[in-house]
Amino acid sequence: MNSYVTKKAGKYWPSKVMKKMAWVNSEKIYKDAAKNPVKFWGKLAQEGLTWEKPWESKNTYVQKLPYFWWFKGGKLNFCVNALDRHLDKNKTALIWVPEPVKEKIIKLTYRQLYDKVNKFANVLKKLGVKKGDRVAIYLPLIPEALISMLACTRIGAIHTVVFSAFSAEALKARIIDGDVRVLISADGYYRRGKKEDLSKKVSQAIKGTKIKKVVMVRRLSKKKNYSGKFTSFDKEVEKADSFCKPETMNSEDPLFILYTSGTTGKPKGVVHDTGGYATQAYYTTKWNFNLHEDDVMWCTADIGWITGHTYAFYGPLLTGNTTLIYEGAPDFPNPSRWWKIIEQNKVTVFYTAPTVIRMYMRFGDKYINKYKLKSLRILGTVGEPIDKEAWGWYFKKIGKSRCPILDTWWQTETGGTLINTLPGIGPFVPTIAGKSFPGTKHVILNKDKKQTKGKEVGFLVQLSPFAPGMLHGVWNNHKKYVETYWKKFKNKYDTSDGAYLDKGLIRITGRTDDVMKVAGHRLSTAELENAIDNHPSVNESAVVPVPDKIKGEIPIAFVVLEKGKPSQELEKQLKKQVDKEIGPTARPSKVFFVRNLPKTRSGKIMRRILKSILKQEEPKGVSTLVNPDSVEEIKKIVSQK
Ligand code: WT7
Repeated sequence: MNSYVTKKAGKYWPSKVMKKMAWVNSEKIYKDAAKNPVKFWGKLAQEGLTWEKPWESKNTYVQKLPYFWWFKGGKLNFCVNALDRHLDKNKTALIWVPEPVKEKIIKLTYRQLYDKVNKFANVLKKLGVKKGDRVAIYLPLIPEALISMLACTRIGAIHTVVFSAFSAEALKARIIDGDVRVLISADGYYRRGKKEDLSKKVSQAIKGTKIKKVVMVRRLSKKKNYSGKFTSFDKEVEKADSFCKPETMNSEDPLFILYTSGTTGKPKGVVHDTGGYATQAYYTTKWNFNLHEDDVMWCTADIGWITGHTYAFYGPLLTGNTTLIYEGAPDFPNPSRWWKIIEQNKVTVFYTAPTVIRMYMRFGDKYINKYKLKSLRILGTVGEPIDKEAWGWYFKKIGKSRCPILDTWWQTETGGTLINTLPGIGPFVPTIAGKSFPGTKHVILNKDKKQTKGKEVGFLVQLSPFAPGMLHGVWNNHKKYVETYWKKFKNKYDTSDGAYLDKGLIRITGRTDDVMKVAGHRLSTAELENAIDNHPSVNESAVVPVPDKIKGEIPIAFVVLEKGKPSQELEKQLKKQVDKEIGPTARPSKVFFVRNLPKTRSGKIMRRILKSILKQEEPKGVSTLVNPDSVEEIKKIVSQK
């Protein structure tokens, strides 16, 4: 059996076989791209994508910070790039594995997917959706999600996907912020063998919004008939014409909005454009995952996240490959499900999150040992730092010590991966992300905004020219865009991550702001605190993350009551409150009722002190508090639980 890695001087490198099959296999690419990154990306965009009209070479990259544009004036349609140009290949575009074991796996060729997308694009038009309009998509991982997204891109509508486990309130907030008129959703989906209802959440979410039409996929029951604002996806598609002319778009036109958590209480709409995003999605997919004709890529992310957008859907379609998605839970009906899916479908590239790897480690090796997983070639991780132990387990148990692991660092804002090792170049080192993707540049700065020395931890920032897939502002909020990304370092993009250099390779240490990663999900402390504070009994609260063996981090809440008494019932209510306002993914695992929160003289809550108390470390800086007594009290309460 082929091995794609070889060990040299205690490190893993690509084997000869890997080097031979890799699109990129020489270090030289980094230097060459760095000489003229604009020219480098210009050439890639031209070669990789199909353009209706090229851009003038002086407009390959135009910068007027904090905004910048790639391939300005170039014209293309995203859907044409993802579908139309692959129609002749008679190839499977999508493999969909439903959760119920007895339900049939569905495979759609590029042609079949194209037909469905064209029809649904016509449905959207019939419902009045026009170029530039926003369409919200609140769907589980089913083919209709991909069909809806692509249909939007075909007619130039801007999609905004909302994670299906988010609450009605979360959906509503995004519908209002995006001024959305058409929503695509489903009656529900399967999760761990149970039917999860979405209809109720949808009805709640649209109240008080400008939603005119809701297209519902009948995933759980084909019997339901819709009327009024509601209509059914399949019935509409049946009636629709089979060809929809693709809208000609400018490279810099927005393609989609995706909301993500920052340091403030409200999620912000990250805007991605068309040509730049497509270019980065195309090349990071092709070069990182080294996709060739026979590859089947499985990225396990939900479409509610950017990873789902770029690597479960768009990247592999832009490159004309086969992508697999799975509707359900990893441990249903038992923790062998994923490995079975890989064997059954001959998955070659597998991309997932450290939190799931840690979960599988817990389940025990018996669920994996009997699977040989011979088809696998490349493994990837994303979303949070991966520790040595999880890396080692992933490498041995899943990759059977034959496959490189790419630890890919990026963000919702960057659209595609930016820091990782390329499979044909190496080295693959546990806990190290690697180098900036060719044609991009990051530096690590200290408090004085000078480059760090040795292994000093500093702030990770990106330098101009900014990668083509980078965000193009925050929807309807110029101020937030400037404040979040451009204020701290002049003319440099602030990633809000900490990092250090290890022999020229980048190691990410985690967020430097009040954002946590819970099972790979990005949550802001402020968002959680807002949700808790909305409970009538609560006066104020502080939420901090603590390390967790499986989820990476979990939120813990400290709550000061306005009325009522601390009780288990109230703790339950507060957790429910978070479920209602954000979704169960954000639910605090514990609530401590305290009399005071540690605060500075200016009234700022010192979450750092709460973190130390939870870790049973001696908190520093207590003397600068207005209420140092609060610390002793909180220590007592925490130690009692
Ligand atoms: C944050 C972005 C990028 C898609 C999924 C998450 C953390 C991401 C890594 C990695 C260490 C990582 C960072 C980043 N992160 N990848 N390989 N190693 N940390 O997107 O929800 O926008 O979160 O995830 O802290 O800022 P996101």
